[in-house]
Amino acid sequence: MVLQKKKYGNLDMIALSFKVSPLYSLIFAVQRILGALLPTISIFVNAQFINTAMAVLNKKADMRAIHMPIILLAAIMVYQVLIGVLMNFVNCRAKIYYRMKLRPEMIEKRARLQYRHIEDPKTADLIKRVCPSVDENIREMYTRILDVTDTVVYILGIVLTLFTQIWWVALFILVSSVPILIIATKAGKRSYDADKEMAKVDRRANYLSDVLKSREAVEERSVYGYAGKLNELYGKRYDFARKFRLKVSRSNFIKNKMGGIITSFLSVITMLAMLKPVTEGRIDFGMFIALMGAVFGLSNRLSWGVNWLVEDLARRKEYLKDLTEFMFLDEQEDADVLPKENMTFSRLEFIEVSFRYPGTDKLILDKVSFVIENGKHYSFVGVNGAGKTTITKLITGLYTNYEGNILVDGRSLRDLSPSEIKGLSSVVYQDFAKYYITLYDNIAIAHLNQQDSLADVEKAVRLAGLSEAVGKLADGLDTPLGKIQETGVDLSGGEWQRVAIARSVMSPAPLRILDEPTAALDPIGESMVYKKFEQISKGKTTIFISHRLGSTKLADIIFVLSGGKIVEKGSHSELMAEEGVYYEMFNAQAEWYAESGHTEHLAEHSTEHSNGTEAIADAG
Ligand SMILES: Nc1ncnc2c1ncn2[C@@H]1O[C@H](COP(=O)(O)OP(=O)(O)OP(=O)(O)O)[C@@H](O)[C@H]1O
Ligand SMILES: [Mg+2]
Repeated sequence: MVLQKKKYGNLDMIALSFKVSPLYSLIFAVQRILGALLPTISIFVNAQFINTAMAVLNKKADMRAIHMPIILLAAIMVYQVLIGVLMNFVNCRAKIYYRMKLRPEMIEKRARLQYRHIEDPKTADLIKRVCPSVDENIREMYTRILDVTDTVVYILGIVLTLFTQIWWVALFILVSSVPILIIATKAGKRSYDADKEMAKVDRRANYLSDVLKSREAVEERSVYGYAGKLNELYGKRYDFARKFRLKVSRSNFIKNKMGGIITSFLSVITMLAMLKPVTEGRIDFGMFIALMGAVFGLSNRLSWGVNWLVEDLARRKEYLKDLTEFMFLDEQEDADVLPKENMTFSRLEFIEVSFRYPGTDKLILDKVSFVIENGKHYSFVGVNGAGKTTITKLITGLYTNYEGNILVDGRSLRDLSPSEIKGLSSVVYQDFAKYYITLYDNIAIAHLNQQDSLADVEKAVRLAGLSEAVGKLADGLDTPLGKIQETGVDLSGGEWQRVAIARSVMSPAPLRILDEPTAALDPIGESMVYKKFEQISKGKTTIFISHRLGSTKLADIIFVLSGGKIVEKGSHSELMAEEGVYYEMFNAQAEWYAESGHTEHLAEHSTEHSNGTEAIADAG
């Protein structure tokens, strides 16, 4: 690993760059130092050339005396042209090399981040700012440090040469460059702050542009016809961002211009100061012309180059702060370990668990206690936002900042290893993931410990009711899903859900959680899925989360969640007898089923449909 958890400063970029590529770093360094000395060498070569040429013209020297100065001049020119071409090539190669070395590290670090960082918009912004440009920033940062060295050597070379001719002008130039540097540093910091603000605005603008373009939103886009409205919103955000940037650039430009005026004065003063010594013969004419050329170049570089350099350095220093912050973000311990094989449990217990999402005040779970016993089937019921999904996030260890305790066979969940926590449960989430890889891999990734998983994948396909869909795919299980490959096939919403369910079936974890993954199925179909899932989960523990109470009848124990607490607990018949919240919810839905013409007991109904086949009946 090149990148580490540490406070990064400018100079660290040298070490970092050498770690990424000693060869490129060395080439850059040597080239820059040579380049920095060249202007000073040029002063002497130019002066000698002018003096010799004048002597030849005045017939004070032989024609042959001019050969050496011309060869030196030509050598400098050839060097400059060749090194330009060569460095272009080296730069291209280096860019690719830095990217290949650094990007994967960033991606890995990102994958290891704790879940809360991904959900928190502040860190999400930070990640967006830091990750995509890491290779460029580190390479450029090293180049900037070389630029600084280059500039210092360059300025010192010229100022020292000037010093030997007319010392007080040299001193004057040195002193007057201080305010220019200060102005530039401030401008740089402002620039990065502006970039930071822009990143936020950009993120929002980009989001809108994604909605306007994305494949996912195409149906809603055409139904609601909101493209025009969103376009307008996008235009506004974009315009705001543009004006903001312009404001900062304008103010920086004016300050730079002022720096430019100061340095132009420097050149004029130098010229005036040298006139007298030249006429008195204390400075020879060739030296005067060569020095003036160098001082003009210097003033130019002081007003634009150095300004830009210091500004860019200050801006990138802010990047380093971000990079440091990013590297210090907490990681999930052993994020990439595989789930423990053959994990078992007999009792999972929530003891007075209270929970708030990090950075929020709202109590989502308020001293919730319940017990999940191995082999039984459970259901969580409650209105939207009651905290059902939150409970699954705690069981799967995504959040650990809860009060109270969660015990697995008497051991605190916090003390279980990441591998054990992963081995404990499989979840089909509400917003389950769709992986644009082959159907086979979509399912097999739930059990990576297994070498040859073909038989199990086929079984999962059958159990999830996907056999028919697989039969229709050109390459069967090996068909790539999703529309990012030419041969990719997109599945229907319900089929994707079945893929997610197959993944869960594939997982050897003893606790299976279905967090309402069946929204694309009609109530009857959903009920069948749950019924079948229960059957194929014999010997396993299941937790069903559903708003449709037809499926909850299957559970041994139903928990009713409301106001952050478990307000009712019991089997379907017990809760119906209680005539409480559950009773009311169930009756409200029973009427609804009645209207749809399905007054029969849903559970039995589903058994009939899947009769004779092992698969979860097609919801059609
Ligand atoms: N990452 C988050 N940060 C802050 N608050 C959150 C976050 N995720 C969920 N919440 C809040 O926590 C509460 C419970 O959410 P949760 O997803 O657990 O509800 P749910 O019971 O699963 O609802 P639904 O039936 O709609 O799926 C909601 O009020 C929600 O706004
Ligand atoms: Mg939910």
